[in-house]
Amino acid sequence: MSETYIVLLGPPGAGKGTQAAGLARSLGLPHVASGDLFREALAKGTELGMKAKAYMERGELVPDDVTVAMMLERLAKPDCAGGAILDGFPRSQGQARALDEALGARGGGVSRVLYLRVAEEELLARLGGRWICRDCQAPYHVRNQPPRVAGRCDRCGGALYQRADDSVDTARERLRVDFRETARLIEYYSVAGKLAEVDGEGRIEDVAEALVAAVGA
Ligand code: AP5
Repeated sequence: MSETYIVLLGPPGAGKGTQAAGLARSLGLPHVASGDLFREALAKGTELGMKAKAYMERGELVPDDVTVAMMLERLAKPDCAGGAILDGFPRSQGQARALDEALGARGGGVSRVLYLRVAEEELLARLGGRWICRDCQAPYHVRNQPPRVAGRCDRCGGALYQRADDSVDTARERLRVDFRETARLIEYYSVAGKLAEVDGEGRIEDVAEALVAAVGA
């Protein structure tokens, strides 16, 4: 089976969303982001959104059973038949095992895991200055990646907003939770021989180039 599943791993603010869109375009795969799916469900007021709300507001992980069910349902859609760029999932060893089982049952598996390494101080600066498109979720940054027209998305013209969980206190809690879980995932995927580490602190274009090289490495 020739499916390509690329996992983008990295702390909040590492640039997963920024890089996933370009990588998805260059590999011809859909970009599937667990955080975007949760925020969409929240905005629509669905049962899934209500389940995720309190966890997201506190900067904690949504329980594995809820997250895995949502992601496997998304990955079963026809546009993911050839694979996907996974952004923000898996985020725990339980999720990684569930993904392996589901892909294994289809005769496939995760192809490559790209870990974006960025220092904590830089992550907080990125999250504090981030703006997101309400319509297409494209991320911007007041200093590092400003939109051409203030408050408007370059790609679709949608209105930009700041995520509630990017406030300093919630961002710190997200980084704390992530530090614990990501260390376990790094171990899990390096034992499987799938992990490639990429310096996420360069210019956006340079990081993009390094990621493409790491996919084929
Ligand atoms: P999620 O939406 O996945 O958030 P996250 O992992 O915290 O990641 P972010 O979206 O904050 O960061 P990013 O790495 O995508 O960075 P970005 O590209 O935007 O999750 C939100 C919540 O949902 C979680 O807290 C949890 O509650 C829940 N959730 C989601 N998935 C879950 C799961 N699997 N299990 C359980 N719960 C889950 O970049 C950040 C900023 O930096 C931008 O402003 C950008 O312009 C700028 N930037 C990017 N690259 C560079 C660069 N190279 N140089 C300078 N600036 C840059």
